[in-house]
Amino acid sequence: MNDATPMRHPPQPNDPTLHEDWREEFPYRHDEDEQMTRRDLLRFLVAGSGALFLATGAIAISGNLPKGANVKAVAVARVDELGENEFRVFDFPDQYGQGIVINLPGKGLVAYSDVCTHLSCAVLYQPDQKRLFCPCHEGVFDPTTGNVRAGPPTRPLPVIQLAVQNGIIYAVKMEER
Ligand code: FES
Repeated sequence: MNDATPMRHPPQPNDPTLHEDWREEFPYRHDEDEQMTRRDLLRFLVAGSGALFLATGAIAISGNLPKGANVKAVAVARVDELGENEFRVFDFPDQYGQGIVINLPGKGLVAYSDVCTHLSCAVLYQPDQKRLFCPCHEGVFDPTTGNVRAGPPTRPLPVIQLAVQNGIIYAVKMEER
């Protein structure tokens, strides 16, 4: 053993660097992330707030489901299966991606990609705290908007547009932001 090697002590619970291990394990350049954020913000402004309103809520459809580029119609649940403040995870847009649909009190159905925008862990909905939580590094997202509330993520969760037809909730399109 090399005597010059400093001895490492295990981190203590109140060590402020305890939850910062991901920075060493996943070196991540924040300046690149900032550029992405500005580009996304510009795209958002061009799209307009009206489009955002439509994107964050379910669209009640009485006729045919929407069609078009990047539009799918993946059945995720029956409307009567999701009580207030309940949620369901589903595959979208294929078996390699997942979304989460929530029947949010005061807002109704909302859906997002459940892939954390920090380092891609799966986020969970915590009904009692009304938040989307990433257990990997304690990222917190607002379930009303998908925006970041706390933790290392800097970008909001992608919105999944929903449509409701004949009592079935469909995921139809992923909106990167
Ligand atoms: S992966 Fe790091 S906070 Fe979600």
